Amino acid sequence: MSDKFEKKILCIGAGYVGGPTMAVIAQKCPQYKVHIVDINADRINAWNSDELPIYEPGLDEVVKEARGRNLFFSTDVEAGIEEADIIFVSVNTPTKTYGVGAGKASDLQYWEKTARSIVKASKANKIIVEKSTLPVRTAEAMERVLNANDKGLKFEVLSNPEFLAEGTAIKDLHNPDRVLIGSMETEEGRKARQTMVDIYANWVPKERIITSNVWSAELSKLVANAFLAQRISSINAISALCEKTHADVQEVAFAIGTDSRIGSKFLNASVGFGGSCFKKDVLNLVYIAESNGLPEVANYWEAVITMNEYQEDRFVKQMISAMFNTIAGKKIALFGFAFKKDTSDTRESPAIHVARQLADENAQVTVSDPKALKNAKNDLADLKNISYEQDPYESAKGAHAVAIVTEWDLYKTLDYQKIYDSMEKPAMIFDGRNILDHQKLFGIGFNVYRIGKPAMTHFDQI
Ligand code: UDX
Ligand code: ADP
Repeated sequence: MSDKFEKKILCIGAGYVGGPTMAVIAQKCPQYKVHIVDINADRINAWNSDELPIYEPGLDEVVKEARGRNLFFSTDVEAGIEEADIIFVSVNTPTKTYGVGAGKASDLQYWEKTARSIVKASKANKIIVEKSTLPVRTAEAMERVLNANDKGLKFEVLSNPEFLAEGTAIKDLHNPDRVLIGSMETEEGRKARQTMVDIYANWVPKERIITSNVWSAELSKLVANAFLAQRISSINAISALCEKTHADVQEVAFAIGTDSRIGSKFLNASVGFGGSCFKKDVLNLVYIAESNGLPEVANYWEAVITMNEYQEDRFVKQMISAMFNTIAGKKIALFGFAFKKDTSDTRESPAIHVARQLADENAQVTVSDPKALKNAKNDLADLKNISYEQDPYESAKGAHAVAIVTEWDLYKTLDYQKIYDSMEKPAMIFDGRNILDHQKLFGIGFNVYRIGKPAMTHFDQI
C-alpha cells in the first residue's frame, strides 16, 4: 500500500522539533510517506488523538490534514527504519549531567542508541539527517558508527538544523528565513544533499535553501542561538543600568533598534530567556571552545548565561525587597509559567527559578498559565507551598503580589481593577515582560515594578 509513495521519510523522535517539522513536510508533500516514531508510547498515542502532546498554534490543522493520508505516528522504530529512504533523527540531546563535560556538553546517548538501531534494522543504504541540535563534528562520529557495519551498507549523514521557534513553529516552517543543509563534500554527500533540497523545494523558494559543508551547518545552529541569546542578555544587562539611572530600557531598545545594522528584534528586556535551546546551545559552544583550547572564547560566551541567571535573580530579589524584605506566608500569584507565550513548553523557563526561590522564602505561590499548568506541576512536583489555578482572577484573590512571568496576550486584557480589589493591600505588580499599561495600573492603586524602568510606588521606597 505504501508503494504509491515517491519517497519514504522516517523521523525518529516525536517531540517539539520532530512533530511539527514532519507534519509540515507531510502537509506540503502528499507524494511522500512521512512516518514518525518514538519510544514513548504515551506521546505517540497523543499524536494519534485529538489532543496532541504539544500546544503549537496551527499544528492541529496541519496534523488533521495529513494524518492517515501520508503522515503516520507509531512506536515501531524498527519497521520504520527498514522501509525508510531518508531518516531524520530528532531525539533529545540534553546537557550532560554526569562525567566529562557535565553541565555543558551534550548528552549524546540517545543519538548514539538511535544510530545503532538504524544499523541494526537497515537492509539498504539510507540518508540520515541530523535534526537535533548537536555539537560540531557529531555527524562524523555518527558516520563512523553507522558505516562500521558488516552488511556492506552505506549511510550518508547530513546536517539540517531546525531554526523554528516554539509558538511560531508552523509559521516558521511554512515560511522559513532559510533552510540549511550541510553534507560531506564528496560526490555521494552532494547527491544526498540534493535529495534534501528537492524535498524542501516543494514549498521553500530555492534561494532560501542554503547548502554548506556539514560542520558549518552544525556550528551555524549553535551560533545562531548564541547570537540571539546574546542580544537578550545584552539588553537585560542594560535594563539593570536603566533602573539605576532612570533611563527607560524600551526607549533605549527602540532607539538602537532603528539602526538598520542592529535591527529591532530580540531586544525585549525580560525576566530572562528560557526554552530548550538557548542555554543548552550556548553551553555547548562554550564546551567546544574549551575543548579546543580557547578559554577566552569560552568565557566570552559563558557570560551570556551568567547574565541570564543574574537577571532571573534580580527579579526575585526586587520582589522580596519591594515586599518589605519578607514574603513568608504571603500569597504571590505568578501569571504565566511557559518559557514564552503560545507554547505549553516550560523547559528552562525563568518561571521555574522564580517559583522555586519564592517558595524557598516560604511564600504561598499560586501558578496560573493558559497552557502550561501540566508541565508546571511536573517541574515543581517536589514543592509543597505551591498551588495551581487556571483562572488568573481566582489566583490573584487575596494575593499580596502578582508577577507576570510569561507574556501571554491574555494578561494584557484582564480587568486589573477587579484584580486589585480582590488583593491584599498594598498591592504589588511585577511586570517581568513589560507588557502591561503601567500608568493605568498605578492609577488603579498598584505599586508597579518593571524591567529596566523606575518603579512606580505610592510610598517612599526604592
Ligand atoms: C529559539 C530560536 O529562536 C530558534 O531559532 C531555535 O531553533 C530554537 O531556539 P525558542 O527557544 O522556541 O527558539 O524561543 P525564542 O523565541 O527564541 O525565545 C527564547 C527565550 O527568549 C524565551 O524565553 C523568550 O521569552 C525570550 N526572549 C525573546 C526575551 O526575553 N526577549 C526577546 O526580545 C526575545
Ligand atoms: P526536541 O525539543 O528536541 O524535539 P523532545 O524531548 O521534545 O526534544 O523530543 C525528543 C523525543 O525523542 C522524545 O519524545 C523521546 O521520547 C524521543 N526519543 C529519544 N530517544 C529515542 C529513541 N532511541 N528512539 C525513538 N525515540 C526516541
